[in-house]
Amino acid sequence: MRAVGGVAVARTVAALRTQVREWRAQGLGVAFVPTMGALHDGHLSLVRAGLERADRVVASVFVNPAQFGPGEDFSRYPRQEEADAALLAGAGCHLLFAPGVAEMYPPGFATTVTVGGVSEGLCGALRPGHFAGVATVVAKLLLQCLPDIALFGEKDYQQLQVIRRLVRDLDIPVGVVGVPTVREADGLALSSRNRYLSAEERRIAPALHRVLREVAAGLGRGEPALDLCRRAAEDLLAAGFLSVDYVEARDAETLSAAGKLEGRPLRILAAARLGGARLIDNIGVEP
Ligand code: PAF
Repeated sequence: MRAVGGVAVARTVAALRTQVREWRAQGLGVAFVPTMGALHDGHLSLVRAGLERADRVVASVFVNPAQFGPGEDFSRYPRQEEADAALLAGAGCHLLFAPGVAEMYPPGFATTVTVGGVSEGLCGALRPGHFAGVATVVAKLLLQCLPDIALFGEKDYQQLQVIRRLVRDLDIPVGVVGVPTVREADGLALSSRNRYLSAEERRIAPALHRVLREVAAGLGRGEPALDLCRRAAEDLLAAGFLSVDYVEARDAETLSAAGKLEGRPLRILAAARLGGARLIDNIGVEP
């Protein structure tokens, strides 16, 4: 296996499986961090969390065409394998799985995994086919690697719930670990898409996290979610966001609509457009 940026790189499923099998034969535990590259400290926190829980960490970098819709940013999504490999090596990652599109979707590929319930609504309603693309590639990646655990950021909270459901429903023998969002000092959640923001938009962007915290505080005072979320969307537009896809309070596990903070943990989720970027964020509220 050749190394790039100081980390060994597997390009094929066969090479990935050979390495993971070898580690297993030595009695080593394996953690897996699936990514689309353009890595930042949020991704590296997943690698660090993997190293705390397992002996070896595998990360994948694959910009998955199946989860981008027409007109979305697939072609301009940043690709920087050398830099990503160096970051992974620096964080202590043991292996990078970087397959090409033909390795993941060979000619004749005809299977799609669709997760009901948690995939519907929020980003699922606005990005048709997105979560089927995510569920399909994550099912493939988990079965290709067969790690003990796989780590995903809470920043993509709906995606995390879709993956938890997928793994439970298909009995995929992998533990799913959600890792808290890493934020800039001003509250902006780290995201590969933040690089699309101009300097002025970057100044406005932390309003997304601010309004989520205001909704959480209001829910804590017993105020109705609908009013709080409507006000949050207005505040985002006033702050300079172009449009708001949603600000909603949902049950933290099922993602069903929630009117008030009553007995069960909630998640407040938001998606909004700022310049050429679509930003998402979420925070939890405990009863
Ligand atoms: O969160 C991501 O980067 C992607 O959606 C994932 C989970 C790697 C699947 O392509």
